[in-house]
Amino acid sequence: MSHRILLLGAPGAGKGTQSAKLADEYDVEHVTTGDALRANKDMETEYGTPRSFMEAGELVPDPVVNEIVKAALADADGFVLDGYPRNLDQAEYLSEITDLDAVIFLDVDEEVLVDRLTGRRVCDDCGANFHVDFQPPEEAGVCDECGGELIQRDDDTEETARERLEVFYENTEPVIDHFRDEGDLVEVDGEATPDEVFERIRDVLDE
Ligand code: AP5
Repeated sequence: MSHRILLLGAPGAGKGTQSAKLADEYDVEHVTTGDALRANKDMETEYGTPRSFMEAGELVPDPVVNEIVKAALADADGFVLDGYPRNLDQAEYLSEITDLDAVIFLDVDEEVLVDRLTGRRVCDDCGANFHVDFQPPEEAGVCDECGGELIQRDDDTEETARERLEVFYENTEPVIDHFRDEGDLVEVDGEATPDEVFERIRDVLDE
């Protein structure tokens, strides 16, 4: 059976971490607007480049991200979608272009989110995710997977992380309420080790 999984959660909730595991386990595509936009930060669009929005912690305009998601989903048999939809207009667009098998919300407290974001380090070469305290690499600053350099994302400073959380509470919480009202949302407690959270998600999907 193909899986079409939507993973919702605040910045730092663990969407990227869990999506990578889900893509492996269920052999589906990991579709993430965040990574797609980071790979195209300086792409010229009629609204300007994604970079200016991302570095301020703001949302990139809907038409830009809608196009990215439409193209990615058209190519995918099964998928885990991460980072989209982030507002009700995007949620409506998504409902027009695909059907979902599961909608999972990773629930994590705000102060935990800030700690996770500010301590995150990502590999500049392969994109693997680490955390200075919670998931430290074997050698500080060096990627366990490929030996690449670990860097801090521009938007993971405390100031921009808090701005991103504000944007989440204002724009994306209504999306979560929408799926909850429709009866489609399964809430998973995201405050445990990555492996434990993964077990919880797998239990939901295998039910
Ligand atoms: P995006 O890249 O999507 O970022 P985000 O939603 O803010 O999510 P993050 O990647 O920060 O967190 P995550 O939930 O994936 O957590 P992770 O697994 O890495 O978006 C960035 C920007 O792009 C946006 O601000 C916006 O400008 C733009 N954008 C993207 N999509 C858009 C859209 N649809 N519309 C408009 N604009 C859009 O984990 C975080 C850290 O915690 C890591 O260090 C990890 O090691 C650690 N960790 C993970 N799980 C655990 C655990 N269980 N216990 C302890 N530590 C953990």
